[in-house]
Amino acid sequence: MVTRRQILLGGLATAGAAGGVLAANGAAAAQAYREGFAAAELKSQTKVAKQKSSFNGSHQAGIEQRAQAHANFIGLEIGSKITKDDMLRWMVLLTDDITRLCNGEPVLADPEPDLMIGAANLTVTVGFGPALFKKLGLESKVPEGFAELPGFKIDQLRDEFTGGDVLIQLGADDLLILSHATRALLRDSEPFGTVRWQQAGFTNAVGSNPEGKTQRNLMGQVDGTDNPEFGSKNFANQVWITGGPAWAIGGTQLALRRIQMNLPTWDMLGRNDKEEVIGRHLDTGAPLGQKNEFDPINFDAKKENGLQVIPPFAHIRRAAAKRPGEQFFRRPFNYQVVGAKPGELDSGLLWTAYAADLTKQYLPVQQRLADFDLLNKWTTPIGSAVFAIARGFEPGQVLAEELFS
Ligand code: HEM
Repeated sequence: MVTRRQILLGGLATAGAAGGVLAANGAAAAQAYREGFAAAELKSQTKVAKQKSSFNGSHQAGIEQRAQAHANFIGLEIGSKITKDDMLRWMVLLTDDITRLCNGEPVLADPEPDLMIGAANLTVTVGFGPALFKKLGLESKVPEGFAELPGFKIDQLRDEFTGGDVLIQLGADDLLILSHATRALLRDSEPFGTVRWQQAGFTNAVGSNPEGKTQRNLMGQVDGTDNPEFGSKNFANQVWITGGPAWAIGGTQLALRRIQMNLPTWDMLGRNDKEEVIGRHLDTGAPLGQKNEFDPINFDAKKENGLQVIPPFAHIRRAAAKRPGEQFFRRPFNYQVVGAKPGELDSGLLWTAYAADLTKQYLPVQQRLADFDLLNKWTTPIGSAVFAIARGFEPGQVLAEELFS
């Protein structure tokens, strides 16, 4: 009899004539399996590269859609001599680049066009920081509720992750495509601005996390449950600007916070303690005391000993809206880079909030969390920037044209 061990050790050839026939059949089957597998794998890879996100319309792409596997957030500072006309020229270039890249095509005069093998769901989102409006005398075109954030006592902000006049946010499901698109956009931006910071983030690869399932952050938590549903009225109300300057109608406002996690001390906590910090179960993401991720949160529930099931300073209790309108859309990306010392990792979230009015919707929540949130013991904001995101563009239109003309 041929044993499992013989098969594993490739010992079939010594197992007699019958074994020889078996071996030949087995080898052919293995070869066919390998080829079939390779073909299927190739097909699925090609499928990822061929995916396109729609990028024309009243809203820019890269917001009301699943977070891609990879993202780059780039903050640029405009040159001291840059005028409104220069900005418009820059936007003309970016609009053309975005159109080509999101179609999976190289930009004009791309020195390495062969790298653009598809779009892999590439999206590019462009916005403007508060300083830009001052520099160009565009204060009358600032959307309502858009301003620099105040300092928070939890902040330990670093210049290299903070501020910026122009945001270019890119997302894609293929890192090589994303890096090539980033390179193209930065090359065409060079005459107008310098890069102040560039921050890379990631979620699961396509296929690793079933579509529609909420992603996890590096603390192991299911992160993004309590968010407005894509395509819903709720989403539109929370996110899209509906009044004020024309260039921003259909746009939104973004708060981007780089929040470092102290994972070595977090890892030392017991599972129950970790769950109490957030107020949700780690495995399912369900609120404490409930079974499923999307079960309603019962903030009034008490344990037998009289203590609250969701502790007073649990993250979700502090973050939940206390007044109507204190809601927004979160679309976080993980980050992990080499730490300050050899062997150390610097990990955290590129935490994003998109809201029609940051001052009304996001600021009170951020202030409450800065005042007290159990999670603050393991997290530190080290970067911060806000951007007003222009409305989307139709074919033939130029991104943010009403702002600079
Ligand atoms: C590293 C930092 C952070 C981590 C790890 C984190 C993690 C989480 C997790 C695991 C949840 C529960 C699941 C969910 O609904 O998504 C949550 C909920 C939430 N977080 Fe955070 N968060 C962070 C920072 C922030 C910040 C800075 C804000 C706002 C200023 C915020 C606002 C919220 C809100 C509004 C909810 C939903 C609360 C509700 O259920 O009503 N989070 N967060």
